[in-house]
Amino acid sequence: MSEITNPNLETLISADAIRARVKELGAQISHDYAGRNPLLIGVLKGAFMFLSDLMRAIEIPLGIEFIAISSYGAEMRTSGEVRILKDLDVAIEGRHILVVEDIVDTGLTLSYLLANLKSRGAETVKLAALLDKYERREKDVPIDYLGFQIPDKFVVGYGLDFAERYRNLPYIAVLKNPEEAQLGLPMKAASPQG
Ligand code: IMP
Repeated sequence: MSEITNPNLETLISADAIRARVKELGAQISHDYAGRNPLLIGVLKGAFMFLSDLMRAIEIPLGIEFIAISSYGAEMRTSGEVRILKDLDVAIEGRHILVVEDIVDTGLTLSYLLANLKSRGAETVKLAALLDKYERREKDVPIDYLGFQIPDKFVVGYGLDFAERYRNLPYIAVLKNPEEAQLGLPMKAASPQG
């Protein structure tokens, strides 16, 4: 069965629409960060595909880093506590940081991460997010470069997963029936964020 034509998926944002929007964001970032050698920090795993396309749409010198964070399910939702599973390999003091994230949902993860990066002495910390599920926001997070606002639906593809599946889709889709998607997949109670 092809994952790309899986009938349990309904296309929300096509590959062409993503490509066009990423190109626009790249042009804007190239303009805004000219002469500042920004460091793009991708939040693993979900943002890897967005970061990969976005950096190719940026024409100025830049660096990339990755960070992996975990959530604690319901606990994290209330406390906003996030654990860093894989930290940056470099110091970021004085750097212009652009965090690259797949989706902002409640905003709890990002508000923790942005504050954490600021506390390390970065000169500026801004956020590029592909998707904004704005209806679910609990903590206000300013998104400096946004791909698309989306409704309160669970989405997969273009790096985003459901139980580690669907990251390879070249488009963003709504999962019509999560129970069906789960069939035959090994599920873990707690897994790393995104
Ligand atoms: P927040 O702290 O609630 O904003 O959580 C953001 C993270 O939740 C994202 O980085 C994703 O890993 C995950 N997430 C939220 N909504 C979705 C979705 O619709 N599909 C896949 N992952 C999601």
